[in-house]
Amino acid sequence: MTFAFPPPAAPLPRPPMSIFSGTAHPELSREIVRHLGVELGDLKITRFADSEIYVKFEQSVRGTEAFIIQPTCQPIDSNLLELLILLDALKRASADMITVVLPYYGYARQEKKDAPREPITAKLIANLLTTAGAQRIVAMDLHADAIQGFFDIPVDHLTALPIIADYLAEKHYEDVVVVSPDEGRVKKVRKIASRLRAPLAVGYKVHPEHGVSEITGLAGDVRGKTCIVYDDMISTGGSINEIVDALLRNGARPEITVACTHAVLAGPAVERLSRPEIKELILTDTIPVPPEKRSAKTTVLSTAPLFAQAIRRIWTDESVSELFTD
Ligand code: R5P
Repeated sequence: MTFAFPPPAAPLPRPPMSIFSGTAHPELSREIVRHLGVELGDLKITRFADSEIYVKFEQSVRGTEAFIIQPTCQPIDSNLLELLILLDALKRASADMITVVLPYYGYARQEKKDAPREPITAKLIANLLTTAGAQRIVAMDLHADAIQGFFDIPVDHLTALPIIADYLAEKHYEDVVVVSPDEGRVKKVRKIASRLRAPLAVGYKVHPEHGVSEITGLAGDVRGKTCIVYDDMISTGGSINEIVDALLRNGARPEITVACTHAVLAGPAVERLSRPEIKELILTDTIPVPPEKRSAKTTVLSTAPLFAQAIRRIWTDESVSELFTD
C-alpha cells in the first residue's frame, strides 16, 4: 500500500479585511477607510425603546480580519458599552481576528490607585474589552504606557507626536521653548523639543483636591521666549490654564501655543482655552471636535493617515513600530 502525499498546499490567501465604525466618531472612521481605499462594512446600530443598544453586522464577517473603530470618548459609558456589544457580535459571527482601533481610551487616567479603596478602572476596561472579544488593540498616546500591560493581547501603541511635531516644525519658530505641564509627560514632550531643536521647560503639577490641578513650580528658562505646551489630553483645561499662568509669571511671551492629542474638552475647557495669551490651539481628531468647541485659533490635525497605515501593516503582517523613528 502506498500513500500519496498531497502536493504542497498553496499558501492560504490572507483573510479578507473588514472595517466597521461604531457611532462615537464616524468622520474619523470614514477618513481612515478613505486613506485605505476600502469601504466601511455594513453595520446597523440602533436603540430599543428603553434605550438598550442593538447591533447587527449586515454582512458576513466569518473568517475575516475585522477592525472596529471606536474611541471611548464622551458619552464614554455609552460608547464603551456599544463597543463591547459590537465585539460580542463579531466574536459570535466567527471573525478570524478582531482588532479594536481605539483612538482615545476613556478611563485611562484611572490607571493606578492614588488613594485607598479606589478602583483601577483602566485595567477593568482592558479586561472588559478582552472578555468581549478583542484580540488586538490599536491605541494612540495612552495616558500611561503601562496600560499596554493591562492587556494580555497585542497592543499597537501609536503616537500623534510626529504629526504634531511636523506641523510645528513648519512654523519655523524662533526663540522657542517646549513645555511639559508636568513631570510625567517629559519623555514625550522631549520628542517634540528635539524635533524643533528647542530647549525644554517642565511644570511641577500637584492635585490639591480630586480633579483640580495646580502648577507650583517651573524648571527651565522661559523669559522672553515663545512657548509651546504639549499635553496628552485637555479635559477641563485646568492644567493648561495653570501652566499658562506659570509661564507668564516666569516672563514667557504672551503668545503661547498649546497642543494636545486628545481633545476631551469637558466642562469649562473651551472658555479657559479662549484666553488671549493662547495664540494657537493644536488638537488632533482622535475625539470629534464639534464646531462649537472650535475657534479661529483652533487647528485640528488628522490622525487618519496614521491609523490607516497601522491597519494596513497589521493586515499585511508588517512592522507597525517602523512607522515611528525617534
Ligand atoms: C494629566 O496628567 C493629564 O496628562 C492631563 O494634564 C489632564 O488630564 C488634563 O486634565 P485637565 O484639562 O482637566 O486639567
